[in-house]
Amino acid sequence: MNAPLLSIQDLHLVFDTARGRLEALNGVSFDVRSGEIFGVVGETGCGKTVTGLSVLRLLPQTATITQGRILFKGQNLLELSEKEMSQVRGGQIAMIFQNPGSSLNPVFTVGSQMVAIIRKHFGIGKREARARAEHMLQAVGLPDVQRILKSYPHQLSGGMQQRVMIATALSCEPDLLIADEPTTALDVTIQAQILALLRDLRDRLGIAIVLITHNLGVVAKTCDRLAVLYAGRVVETGPTRVIFKNPQHPYTRGLMRAIPRPESRGKRLEAIPGSVPGNPGAIVGCAFAPRCALAFDRCRVEAPPLIEVGEDHRCACFLAETSFRRPEGGGI
Ligand SMILES: Nc1ncnc2c1ncn2[C@@H]1O[C@H](COP(=O)(O)OP(=O)(O)O)[C@@H](O)[C@H]1O
Ligand code: SF4
Ligand SMILES: [Mg+2]
Repeated sequence: MNAPLLSIQDLHLVFDTARGRLEALNGVSFDVRSGEIFGVVGETGCGKTVTGLSVLRLLPQTATITQGRILFKGQNLLELSEKEMSQVRGGQIAMIFQNPGSSLNPVFTVGSQMVAIIRKHFGIGKREARARAEHMLQAVGLPDVQRILKSYPHQLSGGMQQRVMIATALSCEPDLLIADEPTTALDVTIQAQILALLRDLRDRLGIAIVLITHNLGVVAKTCDRLAVLYAGRVVETGPTRVIFKNPQHPYTRGLMRAIPRPESRGKRLEAIPGSVPGNPGAIVGCAFAPRCALAFDRCRVEAPPLIEVGEDHRCACFLAETSFRRPEGGGI
């Protein structure tokens, strides 16, 4: 099998806070392949954003990566100089966020912002950069692009702003787009349109997308493969189809029960009792044990490793099916 486009391996990250050391990531590992949409899912505080920011090395000053590797096309991004890294950002990996309004500069028109970014990246003239900006705005399905280029961000709706952000992110032709909760601030109809756009862009441009979301329902509709994060660790990862058919981790099952479905309209959804731990690094044993209905003695003293439970399917729970055996001669 081809090497993955992005391989995050055993990533550990700590924050220095006024209240001491906060171990936010405690061994995050997953692979993203070229041209796939990969979901990173978990409740607020699980470490999704920090994982995305680590890939681009855009972390706050108080954060330190203490262990692990982030391989992009085989190169460890954590070993690049700041200059090399700035070429990766935007050019090879781009990131968009939940609130497009806050990523766009309110005092410049959409056109002048896009043109400046495109000119800087390609070293081309204004006219050519503007043509490229127009083309990208059309590619993300925006009508009347001349008007949009002349608009200030506040003159556009949230859905249009997010399309502008996507167009800007893709205008430098990255191989990977990290989209952090790109639809969370939008209403449901617009959310569905943006997700359809991401799928369409993947199909047309062959770009890989890491879609960060707290909503497993969004992953079900959009992603090829996924990783479920809990307390700064991957607790389950594999193809979306496989995980939805045969979820192995109690946390994944809990998130699945919390997905709103048409037949459950009006009924209370079953939320997972308890909350995400504030400092997961301080927990001995399985970080999910305080909320797990199936926890037993061993869970409170030993942390379950992420093990293979099926083809391309891994889970970190002592109760996961461990009968899986690789086919003979299946390579690594
Ligand atoms: N700037 C920061 N300083 C201190 N702790 C932070 C900072 N940013 C995030 N954290 C902590 O890191 C953990 C992961 O946060 P985050 O990646 O934002 O989670 P998510 O995106 O899954 O909601 C949380 O415990 C959060 O409180
Ligand atoms: S290892 Fe134990 S506590 Fe953790 S998820 Fe599995 S059963 Fe629950
Ligand atoms: Mg976040």
